[in-house]
Amino acid sequence: MKKLSIILAAALLSLTQAQELEIFSWWAGDEGPALEALIDLYEQQNPDTEVVNATVTGGSGVNARAVLKTRMLGGDPPSSFQVHAGQELIGTWVAAERMEDLSGLFEEQGWNEAFPEGLLNLISTDDGIWSVPVNVHRSNVMWFVPAKLEEWGVAAPTSWNEFLEVCPTLQEQGVTPLVVAEPWTQQHLWESVALGVLGPDNYEALWSGELAFDSEEAAAVWETYGEIMACTNDDAAGLSWQQATDRVVNGEAAFNIMGDWAAGYLTTTLGLEPETGFGWAASPGTEGNFMVLADSFGLPVGAPDADATTAWLTLVGSKEGQDTFNPLKGSISPRLDSDPSIYNAYSQSAYTDYTENRQVGSLVHGAVANETFMSEFANVLEGYISSGDAAQAASSAQELATRTGVGSN
Ligand code: GAL
Repeated sequence: MKKLSIILAAALLSLTQAQELEIFSWWAGDEGPALEALIDLYEQQNPDTEVVNATVTGGSGVNARAVLKTRMLGGDPPSSFQVHAGQELIGTWVAAERMEDLSGLFEEQGWNEAFPEGLLNLISTDDGIWSVPVNVHRSNVMWFVPAKLEEWGVAAPTSWNEFLEVCPTLQEQGVTPLVVAEPWTQQHLWESVALGVLGPDNYEALWSGELAFDSEEAAAVWETYGEIMACTNDDAAGLSWQQATDRVVNGEAAFNIMGDWAAGYLTTTLGLEPETGFGWAASPGTEGNFMVLADSFGLPVGAPDADATTAWLTLVGSKEGQDTFNPLKGSISPRLDSDPSIYNAYSQSAYTDYTENRQVGSLVHGAVANETFMSEFANVLEGYISSGDAAQAASSAQELATRTGVGSN
């Protein structure tokens, strides 16, 4: 009896000592396999830590970010959360002094040499380094099924004008030329159109404040965007990005503009082969440009069990962690020592483009604009969809930029 109570007491003690690691992200359901593989690895390496995989469903984090905001402002931060490198991190959580500086960890792990300078810049300020990137995704990709295009007698368009020319050919055959889904995917389309119409210099000038959102050039983006939207499905609001991808796969739609998490879905979830099962190209007019975004994790101020989070971040930034995560996710490892040969043909092409193309930052996925701009841009877009008034959209976007400090970074 005495022995039993000693065993029980010991078990109880180890239970109360067990650390907990709560990882907060929007990688739920069929977006989950890469994160789950990384968590499995963490659990092997840290058997005494209990991992809580806290996900809030909803592509691009639209729902997760709202929950996160409530928790952070309510003094209940998770151990670590998914956040995009760039202004979503710096202009939001770092500006509010809610993140711990990770410079020491970067030094200790040799990450200042392991990650490319451009990416380090996105996660740093003069006062510190604020998150650990787990991947690099590309935003400006157009997806299609090569055999279907052949059947319909069209080629992947290399400019939006070319797309607008093939639009009726596809419509006549009962095919949706371009499928879009819930609102954030329409913003995702917008940033690719903006890059295609403006070119990289002017696209970047929007974010540095050198080109106004209500300039003639920027207003032209809305005009083209409107023409493109006339070639899309009319049941967008009810579709997730995966359902939009499904329409391309099953031949209801010809093209989709989506980040390369779509490659993760097409290969990891649907089991399709790159090149035969699906094809890809830079979104029209953006060849030679890589619109970049990176998911990262940090250590929020006041996070419980900071040691467990540090172990998590150490894994997130490691070669082993990134080689486990990225081949499943459709993203690539930004580490300079990463080995492209462990990836499929799509990701290998992304590697080549990441290293050889001009890089510009994504709006919808947090690289170039702060959280407030990102979320309120949805209203500008919604206003445009209902009014079709390009000049009005351009001036609303400028008003939003001024109000949220975009362009004065
Ligand atoms: C992005 C994120 C990707 C992917 C995508 C769709 O914002 O960076 O990793 O999850 O949303 O949900």
